[in-house]
Amino acid sequence: MAATTATRRKLIEVAIPLDAINAASAREKSIRHGHPSTLHLWWARRPLAACRAVLFAQLVDDPSSHPDRFPTKEAVEAERKRLFDIIEELVQWENSTNEEVLKRARAEIRRSCGGELPPVYDPFSGGGSIPLEAQRLGLPAHGSDLNPVAVMIGKAMIEIPPRFKDRQPVHPGAKERTHYRNAEGLAEDVKYYGEWMRERAFERIGHLYPKVDLPKEHGGGKATVIAWIWARTVPSPDPAFAHVHVPLVRSFDLSTKKGKEVWTEPVVEGSAYRFEVRSTANGDFRRGSGGTVGRRGGICIVSGSAMPLKYIRQQGQAGNMGERLMAIVAAGSRSRLYLPPTDEQEALARSAKPESQPDIAFEPNALGFRIGSYGLTTFGDLFTDRQLTALNTFSKLVHEARERIEDDALTVGFSDDASPLRDDGVGAKSYAEAVSVYLGFGVSRLSDIQNSLCSWESSKTQVRHLFVRQGTDQNPVNHLYTCERCRPEARGARGRVVR
Ligand SMILES: C[S@@+](CC[C@H](N)C(=O)[O-])C[C@H]1O[C@@H](n2cnc3c(N)ncnc32)[C@H](O)[C@@H]1O
Repeated sequence: MAATTATRRKLIEVAIPLDAINAASAREKSIRHGHPSTLHLWWARRPLAACRAVLFAQLVDDPSSHPDRFPTKEAVEAERKRLFDIIEELVQWENSTNEEVLKRARAEIRRSCGGELPPVYDPFSGGGSIPLEAQRLGLPAHGSDLNPVAVMIGKAMIEIPPRFKDRQPVHPGAKERTHYRNAEGLAEDVKYYGEWMRERAFERIGHLYPKVDLPKEHGGGKATVIAWIWARTVPSPDPAFAHVHVPLVRSFDLSTKKGKEVWTEPVVEGSAYRFEVRSTANGDFRRGSGGTVGRRGGICIVSGSAMPLKYIRQQGQAGNMGERLMAIVAAGSRSRLYLPPTDEQEALARSAKPESQPDIAFEPNALGFRIGSYGLTTFGDLFTDRQLTALNTFSKLVHEARERIEDDALTVGFSDDASPLRDDGVGAKSYAEAVSVYLGFGVSRLSDIQNSLCSWESSKTQVRHLFVRQGTDQNPVNHLYTCERCRPEARGARGRVVR
């Protein structure tokens, strides 16, 4: 005997309020504060509004499935309109934590799912948008991914916060409050121990990041450095100047802000050269934003000889690539200040001696990963010694912070259950591991804007992080000289190396 199953059409199979979902998804792109995307970089994130709406519309029955309750076309349309209204409210960013709106949505899902809130599983969960929104809707949420970074993001967003829900922070001096809602206590601890790490790091390596002396025209005194802008160099291809390392720079622009253009200019004197900072505001003449190298090769600024890419790659592979400080960007009272390099600043950067260097080799044939042809073959090669020193310091501090957090958690009454976070522990040890996941994310994010392939975005006058796109175009030529190819939408914004 053939078995028949009565299937009910779900709302998503008939109609959803696309305009409202699109508008909320587009708006979400400009939201930074409190948005999970700021936790850690992930590339293919789906808008939360769209995930929320799609989950809801997949679970809620279309009214046409219930002719007993909605016998006429008008009744069906009126009910659909009511469900659309719920979605339109649900997708608003401000309602992401609005319990009243969420409760109404949950009640609708229950009504269509036999009184249950069914589980959701996203096997390719990436940035975790789907499990996160499922959890918000009260559905038991599960996710998995091939990439361990994505898995960690999922855990940090979905698994860890509920485990330590409504708990007081454990850090010393935490304010006595009657109630910490959801992850407020956890978040406060992340902030506290993050600041503790920054202070300790400053004590240990602050001398490698000195303030810069301001010349009289900038009012004298000292200013905090925002970026040291370097050029990679290779020996001049002209045998007469082979002892001179010449810069490989796609553009010398430092700021392309209209009317306030600033650039660094190499001034060649015989076989030597120095960098000076010029600006249209000072009446300097701007010859264009060209540099010394393009996609096919470059020109030696000292001899005028051509430097084919093949030559540059050979020099890189032979370990002959160097670097030269081109400019310093400092924080002025109202705007950025651009200063020429000094020997002291350059020498100080070179004086850093990292305790360790990751010597793991890249997969040489990874798609789009072409830095090997320039002699960069290990992860350690992606960082300058000063950057490695800073990253080593912060990484060590995550471990030190974890020990402190465990002690502090025991002091405020967490259990001494030794089960780790991965085994569903809820004691002091597990809590310390939980906080350090977020602290570790901070260090990971730092490495994305603190490596020798990062560039300076002259249109925005800020450092551009390296992994703009996932797994493609990680070609140091682009990053050494420009980031145009790796972010086509930013064409025209030229970058230089920042360390
Ligand atoms: C487009 S993203 C997923 C987006 C995600 N569903 C969201 O809503 O944000 C695709 C994900 O699939 C993961 N992936 C690719 N192949 C996989 C495999 N064989 N097993 C598990 N995950 C895989 C990738 O690491 C990536 O995170």
